[in-house]
Amino acid sequence: MRPLADCAAEVLSTADAAEKTRLSRAHAADWFAARAAGEVPPVGRADPPLRPARPDRPELLDPREVPKRKPGSAEGRTAMLHAVAHIELNAVDLHWDVIARFAHIPMPAGFYDDWVQAADEESKHFGLLSDCLAARGAHYGALPAHAGMWRAAEDTAEDIMGRLAVVPMVLEARGLDVTPDMIALFRRHDETDAVAALETIYAEEVSHVAYGSKWFHFLCGRHEEDPKETFHALVRRYFKGGLKPPFNTEKRAEAGLPPDFYWPLAEEAR
Ligand SMILES: [Fe+2]
Ligand SMILES: [Fe+2]
Repeated sequence: MRPLADCAAEVLSTADAAEKTRLSRAHAADWFAARAAGEVPPVGRADPPLRPARPDRPELLDPREVPKRKPGSAEGRTAMLHAVAHIELNAVDLHWDVIARFAHIPMPAGFYDDWVQAADEESKHFGLLSDCLAARGAHYGALPAHAGMWRAAEDTAEDIMGRLAVVPMVLEARGLDVTPDMIALFRRHDETDAVAALETIYAEEVSHVAYGSKWFHFLCGRHEEDPKETFHALVRRYFKGGLKPPFNTEKRAEAGLPPDFYWPLAEEAR
């Protein structure tokens, strides 16, 4: 297959969401077919765009300007599914970006296995949510979405450990905290398709956080740095939002994120 970094840059440079996720899944299938045959395809080098290409719609607004809708209304729940679809599409780009942007740093094949797997799953998640939106007469792009989601990627474009600390270990871990309530909401309203989609997402996101923790610890070992201290320093530097409880301590532990990693940061933010 083509060098993996090239494939990653192609996904990042593709604006249309359906085409972006189709390419993402096709490249992942090629990668894993090669790996199953005992090969490690070349990673190569790429020059990814600082910001990934995105479709004209949705309109991207400052989070304060995105209209608030009540989750008790059907319209509000559709808006919630739209917001999650936006997060998933962003995550597709984030995982390919970690491959392309840091391709010059030598990493074991397992690093690429993990992020290709995660990118493939985010692409599937986007598809599941697109199906839910279609069943409600909506589509991705029909509503405005949050701008600034790429901020964490730009801030950590030069720092792979900062990227792992902030993206999988803070942002994706946050997803583990909030998804159970979302599943309960859709269950109360008998929206079984949304429940099924969110349950798949919830189950698979644990491994994305775990990949982050695994490779963060690997790099700490390589540079002889203390993982917890380094994590705290990087989150303070790159993540301005502060960490907010309640935390899903059980799923975070399953993902290799013990409380002494995040609790001190939450205490500071209070
Ligand atoms: Fe996802
Ligand atoms: Fe994820």
